[in-house]
Amino acid sequence: MKLSNTYADRGKRGHTPELTTRADQSYLEYLSDARDMMLNKKGQSFMKRGGEVMKERGIPFEHTHEVAEKIRDAFSEEQDLAVFLRVKRSLQEVYKERIIGSYRLIEQQWLNRLDEADEQGPGSVSYDLDWEVPAYACRDMHIQPGGFVGSPLAGLHYDYNTQIFFSDNVAADAMHAGFVAKTPPPHDGRVERFMEIGCGIGQIACELKKVYPDAEAWGTDIAAPMVRYSHWRAMQQDLAIHFSQMPAEDLDFPDGHFDMVAAHILFHEIPVPVIKKVIAEAYRVLRPGGIFVIWDFRTACDDKPGYHSILGLVDAADNGEPYALGFVNCEVEGILSEAGFDLRDNCDGGLFIEGRFADKPVV
Ligand SMILES: C[S@@+](CC[C@H](N)C(=O)[O-])C[C@H]1O[C@@H](n2cnc3c(N)ncnc32)[C@H](O)[C@@H]1O
Repeated sequence: MKLSNTYADRGKRGHTPELTTRADQSYLEYLSDARDMMLNKKGQSFMKRGGEVMKERGIPFEHTHEVAEKIRDAFSEEQDLAVFLRVKRSLQEVYKERIIGSYRLIEQQWLNRLDEADEQGPGSVSYDLDWEVPAYACRDMHIQPGGFVGSPLAGLHYDYNTQIFFSDNVAADAMHAGFVAKTPPPHDGRVERFMEIGCGIGQIACELKKVYPDAEAWGTDIAAPMVRYSHWRAMQQDLAIHFSQMPAEDLDFPDGHFDMVAAHILFHEIPVPVIKKVIAEAYRVLRPGGIFVIWDFRTACDDKPGYHSILGLVDAADNGEPYALGFVNCEVEGILSEAGFDLRDNCDGGLFIEGRFADKPVV
C-alpha cells in the first residue's frame, strides 16, 4: 500500500479554513476557552487590583511605554497579577505556534492554491515580491513571527489567529459585518467605487461588496501575503474584488477616484507620522463628498473604558503592538480636521473600538 502524507481539507470555520488535524483543532478550542476564561472571568479582578497597585505606587495612568514598563515591574511583585499576565501571554504564544505548525503540514498545498488563485477571478490580485516593505511594517506584530510580511502564509495564519483572539465573535466574519452595517454612505448616497486600506484578509472589503454589489471594489495592503490570501478568500465567496499590495500612505490611484475609503484596525498598527500621511492620502483619492471611515481603538480619554484600560495598556506589549499607544494618544479626529475633513459624530463600535466618519467637503 502506498502511504500518503497529504491531508484532506477539513472544511471551514465560517470563511476560515479549519486546521489540518482534529488534534490541532481541539487543542485550539481548549486554548480559546482558556483565554476566554482569563479575559472575561478574571479580567475584571485583574483590572481592579491592578488599579489599586498603580495608586499605591503612584503610577500615573498614561499611555506611554514607560508607564507600561512601570506597571509590569509593579505587577511582577504581586503574584495574582503576575500570573494573569504570564498566562495571557503564554496562551497567545502557544496558540500562534500551534496554528503555524498545523498549516505547515500542508504548506505546499497552500502555496499551490495561492499560486493558482493569483491567475483566477472573480476579482484580481497584484503584488511585487521585490518591493522593499518599509522597516516599520516588518515587526513581529501580534507576536506573530514575521508579522504580516514574514511568511507567504501570513494571511492564512492571521485568519485563524483572529478566530481565537476575538473568541468566536468573528465567526463567519460577523464582527466585520457588524462594523459595515454601522458604516454610513456619503451624504449623497453614491458608492460606485470603494477601497479598504490595510485590508488584511479583506473582510471589510468583502462585507462592503455585499452591501454595494455593483460598486468597483478594492482592497489594498502593504503586505503581499495578505493581499494574496484575501483574494483567495474573496474568491471563495464569489466576490469580485481587486486586491493590490500598496502602502496606504502612497496609493497608486488618481485624485478623487473613490466614493468611500475604509480602514478597520489599521491605524493602531502604524506610527503617528505615517498616520498623518495616510489621512492626507485618503483625502486625495476621495472625490469631493466622499467618505473616509476609520474603525479603530478609542482615543485615550478619562471618561470611557477601552484600550486605555490597564488591560489595554499592558496589551500593547503583550500583543506586540509597538504603535498602539501612539495611536490612542494621537487625537486622530484633530488630524482628520487639519487634513480638511468634516467630521460626523463618532460611533461606539463596542469593546475597544470606535468609528470615525470623515467627509471630504464638496467645495
Ligand atoms: C490588524 S490588520 C487589520 C486587517 C483588516 N483591516 C481587518 O479588519 O482585520 C492591519 C493590516 O494593516 C496592514 N498595514 C500595516 N501598515 C500598512 C500600511 N502602511 N499601508 C497599508 N497596509 C498596512 C498590515 O499588513 C495588516 O494586514
